[in-house]
Amino acid sequence: MKRLLIKNGTVVTAEREFNADVLCEGETIAAVGEKLDTPEGAEVIDATGKYVFPGFIDPHVHIYLPFMGTYAKDTYATASRAALVGGTTTLIEMCCPGCDDDPLEAFELWKSKAEGISACDYTFHMGVTRFDAEAAEKLKQIVEAGVASFKVFLAYKGAFGINDEELYETLKLAKELGVIVTAHCENAELVAKLQAQLVSEGKTGPEWHEPSRPVRVEAEGCHHLMTFAEQTGAHVYVVHTSCKDAVDVIADAKGRGVQAWIETVIPYLVLDKSYAERPDFEGAKWVMSPPIRDKAHQPVLWQGLAEGTIDTVGTDHAPFDFKTQKHMGHPDPAKALNADFSLRGEGANFTLIPNGIPSVEERVNLLYTYGVKAGKIDLRTLVKVASTQAAKIFGLYPRKGEIAPGSDADLVIYDPDYRGKISVETQQMDTDYSGFEGVQIEGRPSVVTVRGEVAVRDGEFVGTMGRGQFLARRPTHF
Ligand code: URP
Ligand code: ZN
Ligand code: ZN
Ligand code: ZN
Repeated sequence: MKRLLIKNGTVVTAEREFNADVLCEGETIAAVGEKLDTPEGAEVIDATGKYVFPGFIDPHVHIYLPFMGTYAKDTYATASRAALVGGTTTLIEMCCPGCDDDPLEAFELWKSKAEGISACDYTFHMGVTRFDAEAAEKLKQIVEAGVASFKVFLAYKGAFGINDEELYETLKLAKELGVIVTAHCENAELVAKLQAQLVSEGKTGPEWHEPSRPVRVEAEGCHHLMTFAEQTGAHVYVVHTSCKDAVDVIADAKGRGVQAWIETVIPYLVLDKSYAERPDFEGAKWVMSPPIRDKAHQPVLWQGLAEGTIDTVGTDHAPFDFKTQKHMGHPDPAKALNADFSLRGEGANFTLIPNGIPSVEERVNLLYTYGVKAGKIDLRTLVKVASTQAAKIFGLYPRKGEIAPGSDADLVIYDPDYRGKISVETQQMDTDYSGFEGVQIEGRPSVVTVRGEVAVRDGEFVGTMGRGQFLARRPTHF
């Protein structure tokens, strides 16, 4: 059996920070303690001056995503490598079928994109984009097959969005099955009306994306979900929460006993809406929904993480190329000749810019640099919000998100002395731009293991493509 001994590091979990060695045997952690003996034949990694974190979990990524007339750019090959280099060892992807698709076929299709390709472990939130008796039957089978969370969109009218009756029935089924429902919360009708109004006024550039989905529209979506959760007793998880208004609405509902969890995502913590306001259409790089907000919301989100009001930090990794895909929404056809789309033409505008930012690679380094180093969160909170909480909420704990005997040997040996800059030139993600170009980072994973195998060394991917496993989960939210 392969043995790996990580010596002299500072082990950091969600609960504790202590000096210890970590012994991995095969795919799991065998022992954690001071001055462990080196078993014969073991590989020894010296972690002096470094942190040893449990592998990070990204609870919100899109890899295979048919969306807004195109497809998200990464594959599991590129995305899992990028995730691992950035310290993320488990991905939870949104399985997003079209509303006419068969849910079971969609689930198999999404799984087939990862099986035998992914270098890191993965699982799925099952998107519910239609609810009827047939869909309910298929959803039950998908839960049996190991999916313990659903995803609904209270946005994207005419695409992934579901109506109130479908929402109610989905939550009722989820409650019965013990499945948590993750939700994109914005009022879809208001977004459609505001988009139409702005476009009719000639406001067509990416800078109008944020005004078309203002904070109160997100807060209303959250309020809507909270009301339905309260009436059905279902457990809900609000994805990509961007602003104080939304956090307040959810916290208020939690105060009334609603079982709700809050996720924010890395772009909201380190970027602000001025990026989407950059001239000459460059702002399109930062168009995502809900939009990146005014800087004033950032301290509220950091404080929410520090205090525990906000449970997790994901990425909402949704990569689209700038020159072709983002240009689908360029208002000037003469300047958008590279766009590979059928949707555009006279009258194109910001509503046709594929929503999303590539970010699976950068989350941990940005959280460390702009959270821990900046004094906004401590090391244990970093582990909690970027790993352990997601494992607990989504039925992966203590297999993932923990450093203890019996847990999977997914470990990140983190070098706090590394200094570097993020750039499209060096990223693993398969897009033609970085949303964080030139941003300074102070620390990076030097070694990353996936179930006992070294997958990253000195910041370089050295893992095995296809070694990633589908993580079957059991419902816990009764
Ligand atoms: O803008 C975003 N968030 N794109 C990906 C789809 C979604 O809403 O999560
Ligand atoms: Zn979303
Ligand atoms: Zn409402
Ligand atoms: Zn998303």
